[in-house]
Amino acid sequence: MSIYRAHVKDIEVILFVINKSNSEAYRKIIPREYFKEPVFTHEELSQKFREMTFFIYELEDESVGVAALQVEGEGLGSVRFVYVLPEHQRKGVGTSLVTYIEAEAGRLGLKTLRVPHVDMNAHWAISFYTKLGYRAVDKRKKPWGYDFFFEKSL
Ligand SMILES: CC(C)(COP(=O)(O)OP(=O)(O)OC[C@H]1O[C@@H](n2cnc3c(N)ncnc32)[C@H](O)[C@@H]1OP(=O)(O)O)[C@@H](O)C(=O)NCCC(=O)NCCS
Repeated sequence: MSIYRAHVKDIEVILFVINKSNSEAYRKIIPREYFKEPVFTHEELSQKFREMTFFIYELEDESVGVAALQVEGEGLGSVRFVYVLPEHQRKGVGTSLVTYIEAEAGRLGLKTLRVPHVDMNAHWAISFYTKLGYRAVDKRKKPWGYDFFFEKSL
């Protein structure tokens, strides 16, 4: 396996991983009127790609997970778009990606990492970030409940 920094040519495969993983996970918890599928278009993801650095977890030539690091400002960054293909979940892929991003953030001199928008009903994501040492520091209302904002000091 390897984790590497994505290039523009990887946008299509990142889009595939995000849209497949998102559909399977969030269809169950987002009311139909708010559920978007696919969650991103190629153009939307291309815009995100300009704002942050994406990483890909590759297993035997297959891209099975993605995650991004966004530098927000002085000492602060965000972990964004952590998505693992459903059939590869629960095998440590997500943990490896976030651990890799934390090391990268440390190299960049970031002191704090945030995870914005963790849906209150996404129990898997709440367990995932809690196990990695993130703590909920804020919550914000949205039409179908609220999102947690997690944070960790590096
Ligand atoms: C969240 C996600 C990225 C985790 O990736 P993963 O590779 O499956 O995670 P790991 O195997 O590294 O799991 C680490 C820990 O997270 C927690 N966890 C992961 N999936 C879980 C689940 N379905 N239910 C409960 N806890 C879960 C567990 O504590 C797990 O440790 P354990 O397996 O020893 O019990 C993955 O579930 C996913 O892609 N979900 C859909 C997209 C998403 O919600 N992303 C987060 C957006 S904020």
